[in-house]
Amino acid sequence: MKNKVWLSFLIVVVVSLVAVVLGYIAPPESVDHHMSHHYHEHTKYTEHEEGSDNVDITRHKSVSKVVSPIPSDTEVDKKLAKIGWLLFKDPGLSSNNQISCESCHQLSTNGAERTEISTGVGGQGTRNSLTVFNVAHNYRFFWDGRANSLADQLDGPVHNVLEMDSDWNRITDYIEGSALYQKQFSDAGLNIDEANVKKALVEFMNALTTPNSQFDQYLRGDQAALNAQQLRGWETFQKEGCITCHRGTNIGGGMMMRFGFFGEDKMGNQRSDDKGRFQFTEQAKDMYLFRVASLRNVAKTAPYFHDGKTQTLKEAIKIMGESQLGKTLDSQSIDDIHAFLTTLSGPQPAILEEFANGKE
Ligand code: HEC
Ligand code: HEC
Repeated sequence: MKNKVWLSFLIVVVVSLVAVVLGYIAPPESVDHHMSHHYHEHTKYTEHEEGSDNVDITRHKSVSKVVSPIPSDTEVDKKLAKIGWLLFKDPGLSSNNQISCESCHQLSTNGAERTEISTGVGGQGTRNSLTVFNVAHNYRFFWDGRANSLADQLDGPVHNVLEMDSDWNRITDYIEGSALYQKQFSDAGLNIDEANVKKALVEFMNALTTPNSQFDQYLRGDQAALNAQQLRGWETFQKEGCITCHRGTNIGGGMMMRFGFFGEDKMGNQRSDDKGRFQFTEQAKDMYLFRVASLRNVAKTAPYFHDGKTQTLKEAIKIMGESQLGKTLDSQSIDDIHAFLTTLSGPQPAILEEFANGKE
């Protein structure tokens, strides 16, 4: 009798232990339930990276990590960001005093520009400008992913002769000679040097997020945030496999993938002389590797692709179907995906209005 009581006690303990452990390892509440069964489809993609050649990206991940809303509570050091804002708009940073960061990344519109290809101090360039909105949520930078942090990225535009034809000594000299900057830097308790100039630009760019798009509202649980067609488009986006590459907070912005996954003739070498990451590493395996573009605000960032040669979003969707999925999407699917992609546009970064109104 005593043994039986003891035994049942033991069973209860074991069962509750198991329950606790299971509770721990069970996947967290997924943001979107109907997604999990689509994700994981037939095609096996591999991500190409230095060091690890073929990283299988189809391994199981909880859906909530596949896509996530842009956080709306980003902490910003306003004094520092304000300096970054002034620098960003200042053509004095360039060799001919005519080109500012904003010349190619327009803050009043989409953080990018409407021309196919950016032209800097030398009047020529090779790539479409990327938007600076939501860069904080990318984890590789530039079309070919050659920089791994925003601070590293800055040596790009500043040193690029085609863009600003400037260097950090010239820039810090210029800033030291300006009463306005002297005051701003001393108010923020900072010396004027290369590190702090970069820090200010990075802090400003980190503040350029566009949370609260329709899709973010939907991800946060508001089912009514998307209409029927937009929902269908979101389904198609997952079902057809766009989500395999375009994922994360920025629905892209990190992974390196071959443009022309189903053959280079489908849009890799046909489009331009740009060989993507190869131009940076000169390794054959990096031929036509480009960073998967972020789709945040994509409806506002025409023209499309690294060469800016595709004018409309619908055309870009069609090309992606052919080059990255090896299929011809029907016009209904294209329309639906297009409707979904428009839900990724958020209001302008709040900090811009704040600074423009002199609230800070
Ligand atoms: C002459 C035009 C031009 C100017 C000036 C310019 N940029 Fe750019 N920017 C570009 C282009 C084009 C790209 C994409 C280049 C590439 O991928 O090779 C880019 C890329 C970037 C990116 C990477 C975004 C991402 O998602 O990877 C950031 C950030 C950026 N620029 C910030 C700046 C800042 C800050 C300045 C001023 C210091 C600046 N840019 C000046 C044209 C310009
Ligand atoms: C195998 C990975 C992969 C898949 C799958 C994929 N894409 Fe892409 N996508 C990319 C890459 C890489 C780029 C950048 C190409 C370039 O311009 O060099 C890109 C760029 C884009 C762009 C252009 C963004 C811009 O700002 O120029 C759009 C729009 C887009 N993809 C939508 C889609 C849609 C819709 C689907 C599904 C039908 C899809 N993609 C499937 C990898 C992928």
